[in-house]
Amino acid sequence: MKITVITGSPRKNGGSTILAEEFIKGAKEKGHEIYRFDSHFRDVHFCIGCNHCGMGEKTCIFKDDFVELRENLLSSDVLVLATPMYYMDFSAQLKKIIDRFYSINTQLTNKEMKTILITSQHSNLPELAQEMNQKYERIFSWWLKMENIGIINVYGVLNGSDLNNSEYLKQAYELGKSL
Ligand SMILES: Cc1cc2nc3c(=O)[nH]c(=O)nc-3n(C[C@H](O)[C@H](O)[C@H](O)COP(=O)(O)O)c2cc1C
Repeated sequence: MKITVITGSPRKNGGSTILAEEFIKGAKEKGHEIYRFDSHFRDVHFCIGCNHCGMGEKTCIFKDDFVELRENLLSSDVLVLATPMYYMDFSAQLKKIIDRFYSINTQLTNKEMKTILITSQHSNLPELAQEMNQKYERIFSWWLKMENIGIINVYGVLNGSDLNNSEYLKQAYELGKSL
C-alpha cells in the first residue's frame, strides 16, 4: 500500500513528529511505500476561496508544494495526519493543508481511502482530544467519505523527549506495522 503521512508540527523533534516516525518505521517494515509531507517546512499557500478549482473541476491556481502532495495523496491508500494540539485544535500548519483539499474535494470523496489521526497534547484532558477526534471524523469520515482506521491521542507531552520509553511509541509503531 501507499501511505501519505502529513505532519503538522513545526518541531522536527516534536511529539507528534516522533510518533509519525514510529508509525512510518512500522509501516516500512511491513513493506509499505511512504510519502511524507512536513507541512511546516513546505511552501503551501493558504486557500483564498477564489473557487477557481470548483472543488475539483479545475486545478488550484497555486503552483506550490501542494501540487506534489496532491499527486501523492491521490495515489495513496492511506492518509495519516499527525498534529500537535494548538489551542484545542489541529495546528494551523495542518489546517492550511486541509483547506487546500478543497481543490481536490471531488477526487477525494470519490476515492477509497483510509485515514489515521495522531495527536499530541500537554494537558491530561481526554475531552480536548475528543473534540479534535470529532472534527477529524466530521471532515474525513463524514464529509470526504473516508474510513477511519485508527486514532492515537497522546497526553502529557510538552516536548518530544517526554515520549522517551513511553508506551505511545510502541502504539504508533504497532499501528504502522498492523497495516
Ligand atoms: C501555540 C500552542 C498552543 C497549545 N495549545 C494547547 C492546548 O490547547 N492544549 C494542550 O493540552 N496543549 C497545548 N499546547 C501544548 C502542545 O500541544 C504540546 O506541547 C504538544 O505535545 C506539541 O506537539 P509537538 O511536540 O508535536 O509539536 C500548545 C502549544 C503551543 C505551542
